[in-house]
Amino acid sequence: MPTASPAPIESRGTGLPPTMRAVVARRYGTEDVVSIDEMAVPSPGATEVLIRVDASSLNALDWHYLTGTPYLIRPSAGLRRPRRITPGADVCGTVVAVGADVTLHQVGDAVFGECQGGGCGAYLATDQGSVVRLPESVSVELAAATPVAGLTAVQGLRTKAALQPGEHVLVNGAAGGVGTFAVQIAKAMGAEVTAVCSAGNVEMVRSLGADTVLDYGTEDYVDGGARFDVMLDNVGNRTPLENLSVLKPEGRYVAVSGPKENRWLGPVGHVVRSALRFRRASQSFHQFTASPNQPDLTFLGELLADGRVVPRIDRIIGLEGVAAGLAEIGTGHTRAKIVVVPD
Ligand SMILES: NC(=O)c1ccc[n+]([C@@H]2O[C@H](COP(=O)([O-])OP(=O)(O)OC[C@H]3O[C@@H](n4cnc5c(N)ncnc54)[C@H](OP(=O)(O)O)[C@@H]3O)[C@@H](O)[C@H]2O)c1
Repeated sequence: MPTASPAPIESRGTGLPPTMRAVVARRYGTEDVVSIDEMAVPSPGATEVLIRVDASSLNALDWHYLTGTPYLIRPSAGLRRPRRITPGADVCGTVVAVGADVTLHQVGDAVFGECQGGGCGAYLATDQGSVVRLPESVSVELAAATPVAGLTAVQGLRTKAALQPGEHVLVNGAAGGVGTFAVQIAKAMGAEVTAVCSAGNVEMVRSLGADTVLDYGTEDYVDGGARFDVMLDNVGNRTPLENLSVLKPEGRYVAVSGPKENRWLGPVGHVVRSALRFRRASQSFHQFTASPNQPDLTFLGELLADGRVVPRIDRIIGLEGVAAGLAEIGTGHTRAKIVVVPD
């Protein structure tokens, strides 16, 4: 979390500036509460690294932290005011200072990973375990597009579903951040992929390697007759019974998200209904919240380095573009990734 340092970092002889430009939202709201401020450069805690940010990217979670919805997140996000005031959980940058107990990184290391916000600013402090070394051949923009969405796809497909080569996976919501990674990672794992998106994104999703692409405006994955080993559901727009009907008897359903109309509980209703319905079925139900760890980030770095995964970037924006970018995320129809390069 980008906390203001009581003692400017400059006073400890680091040569770093005492303040920086950062996107801030000091109260809950929509893009209207977002501005750009001059803030203190944070100080790294004992196990933290201070990173000079080269690039970040936006995710649905930034919209949740901006709006404070569903209200379920408020006990951790901040009851009346957000604790994370600067968006950007994805980061790629250079380590410029380390806490006293840091053993994994040193000043000068290029790293990427997932932090507790702060990517839409010039510097952020994050736990040493939340970032890994950036492979030399990978650009900062591609690395910054990866952590949250890539970790979600890896942990959904590999950790939860234990996807095997030759299996058939259905990716619902294939055109967004998680979906564009999931299609490529499932192909990299040797699976056959059927992907669901809107008409305007069919060609983009096909270019990611999907074997079959369904335009949800004209084709219904429930009625298609196909049966899948794994379903990675980034949308949650169908009933548990409908999702069960497209899975093979030993199939695995992985709920990444669910409908968000309920401002109190968000996708929780869908998750609970699915968990209850799947208890009476041979197919298994999995739900999770993605989190950073060194092995998964390193795996993603390898996929990026050898080109098996090439993050799809819709556009690169500066700090001034973040408010509009967040508003777009809030529509639920973002295309691939929006990368932020602090100016
Ligand atoms: N469990 C976790 O740890 C975790 C982690 C990351 C994200 N999430 C959640 O997972 C969801 C996806 O995240 P994201 O980063 O990919 O979001 P995103 O970048 O905003 O993308 C959402 C995508 O959903 C697609 N979509 C909307 N309605 C659809 C429908 N009826 N059928 C198929 N696709 C539809 C949109 O594509 P079209 O424009 O083509 O409709 C859009 O590209 C979000 O709800 C997010 O909050 C959960």
